[in-house]
Formats: sequence, C-alpha cells, structure tokens
Amino acid sequence: TITAVIMAGGKGERFWPKSRTHLPKQFLNISGNKSMIQQTIDRLEKLIDISQIFIVTNELYAELIHAQLPNLPYENIIIEPIGRNTAPCVGLASIVIEEKFPDSTMVVLPSDHIIENEEGFIRILETAVEVAEKEDNLVTLGIKPTYPETGYGYIESTKQIELLNDLEVHKVNKFVEKPNLETAQNYLDSGNFFWNSGIFIWKVSVIRKYIQKLMPEMHDVLETMKAGFKLESRNEVIRSEFKKMPDQSIDYGIMEKVNNIYVIPCIFGWDDVGSWTALDRINDRDENGNVIKGNILNIDTKRCIIESNGKLIATLGIEDLIIVDTEDVTLICTKDKAQEVKLLLKELRMQK
Ligand code: GDD
Ligand code: MG
Repeated sequence: TITAVIMAGGKGERFWPKSRTHLPKQFLNISGNKSMIQQTIDRLEKLIDISQIFIVTNELYAELIHAQLPNLPYENIIIEPIGRNTAPCVGLASIVIEEKFPDSTMVVLPSDHIIENEEGFIRILETAVEVAEKEDNLVTLGIKPTYPETGYGYIESTKQIELLNDLEVHKVNKFVEKPNLETAQNYLDSGNFFWNSGIFIWKVSVIRKYIQKLMPEMHDVLETMKAGFKLESRNEVIRSEFKKMPDQSIDYGIMEKVNNIYVIPCIFGWDDVGSWTALDRINDRDENGNVIKGNILNIDTKRCIIESNGKLIATLGIEDLIIVDTEDVTLICTKDKAQEVKLLLKELRMQK
C-alpha cells in the first residue's frame, strides 16, 4: 500500500500580507479556485485513497483543515503543538502510520506547491514507489535548475541511470541542502545537479531505520511516543513529548547523510510558489507584463504584481512593483525584495 504525508505546518511568511499566521499560504487560493492544500489532496487522490492520506500540521490549523477537507478522516490530521521543522514532522507521521499501515511506502510532500501536469505527476509517483520498494532506497523528485537558487536543496546525479516505465532513474552521488550562491552557481554550471522538489518517497520501515541511525535522539522521543500511544490518546502523548524533538529539517537530518538515494527528474511543471514573484511564472500576464487580480486601473504600468481586495488600486508610471492590498495591510515592495518580505514581519513583531 501507499500512504501519503502532507507537511502543512509552514507559515508562508513570504506571502504576507495575504498569508497570515492564522491563514497561511497552503490554505489560500493562489492559483485556481481551490486552496493549495485542497489541490494537493485532489491530485493525490488519483493514486491514494483518502483514508491513507495524512496531514501533519500545527494545532492552529487543525480545524481549518477539517473545514477545507471534510472528507479526510479527522484522525488523519496529526497535530503538532509547536513547529520543529520537517524531520520531526516526518518522524511523527511515520510512527502514526506504522500503527495502521506498517508495510506501506510513504510519499512525503509539501502542501503548497503547484504541479501542472497531474498525469505526469502520478506516473512519476508510481515509478518512485517501485524504486523505493525495490531495496531500502530513498527517492526524491528532481527539477532541472534554471538559476542558482540558494533556497533549495541540490541533488548531484551519477552516471548510473536506469530507465523504468520510460522514466529516468538516477542514482544520487550527494545531496546538498541550501548551498551558498557560489556553490549553487558551480552546481548549475556542472550540469549534473537537480533541485530537490521537496517530495520524498520511502518505505515507512526504511525511514524509521535511518532515523534510528542518523537522528538517535529523535528516535528515542519517537519510541517513547509510540509506547505512550498504547496508554493515552495520541494527542495527549504528542502534546507532552513533542517539545523534546530536535529542530531540524529532513534535508539536513537525513538526506545529506545517506548514500542510497535515487532521483527521478520531473516531467511535470513544478513551482514551490516561494514568494510573490512566483505569480509571474504561474499566471498569465497582460501585454505590459503585469499580473493583476481584482479591482485595478493602470496606465503606463509595467511588470507589476497587483492584487486588490475590493478597493480600486490605480497605478500610473510604475515598474517592477508588488502591491498587495488586504483588509488591514497594504504591501508595496520592489520585486527584487520579494524574498525579504519576512523582514517586515520580523520588524512588526519587534514593535509589538
Ligand atoms: N507539519 C510541519 N511542521 N510542516 C512543516 C514544518 C513543521 O514544523 N516546517 C515546514 N513544514 C512544511 C512546509 O509547510 C512546507 O510544505 C514543507 O514542510 C517544506 O518546508 P519549507 O520550510 O517550505 O522548506 P524549504 O522551502 O526551506 O526547503 C525544502 O523545500 C525545497 C523545495 O521547495 C527542502 O526540502 C529543499 O531541499 C527543497 O529544495
Ligand atoms: Mg518551501
């Protein structure tokens, strides 16, 4: 069987002010008329039954998920009292899934990415599951890089390439999480690297084994929790034990340290919708290169991203700006600062 774990605890801060602590990016309609997490589930349901799809999230969002995804069994929402990054998220999901589907292969994926070609995505997942089940392999989906992004993980492929179901399966040489710009540029130039899409496929038993070996402290907490599940309610156990988890991503904690990784290059359009400028890639632009949504009047306005919340936004003679109006906040920022929107939030918090 195949199970899925959707990581949905992120705060989506670079999409502020539309994305807010109480309603982050994954619960918003960024493209299309469903929220990103609803689209993620719809896509997965073509391969995996909803009863085998789990969502790991912060307690702030449990009810929101229940409201947006009424068909998902409530017990499939795994609730974290605090965010500890993705390694604890995956670890926790693995012990919950182990109870019901111990022999399953799990697909771990983010809740807030855009995937254009669903059929291609499903085909790749099926093949990835095959590779993960063959031996104790960890499988990731890779994206051909187009610029030296420092916010992604990089995967170096070896010459060892197999064809499976008409798809390339590359043995990985090494995995490097978020390199600096110079290193990222070297990787790009070398041509043997992929970006990590953040989608992982492995057997539950295999990831448990790697956690035991490479993150022994986290393994101990997981074992304590597992024993607790037999005595107390799951939520109680997690609430009391989860804070002992280390704060680490699965990329640094596991992926950088193992050898038998395989990467399958993605043939479906992928975007992690990392910041406002992603809208340039995923939406249609008008003849002046603007992406506009809502009540907008513009003259002599070029390459801007403008989103109104009902009130008319009128622009004249501006270029390369992001303007986002919400009920209580209006963001105006240059496109080259889109990654730094987080700084405003930090400043705001300091003022409080
Ligand atoms: N439940 C839970 N708890 N989910 C979390 C937590 C947490 O503490 N922290 C992050 N997530 C979720 C986010 O909501 C997102 O869907 C996913 O896990 C990945 O976390 P990000 O914080 O977005 O990671 P990243 O963008 O820095 O890097 C990862 O994704 C890149 C591709 O988008 C890495 O896997 C990179 O290697 C990869 O290139
Ligand atoms: Mg991300």
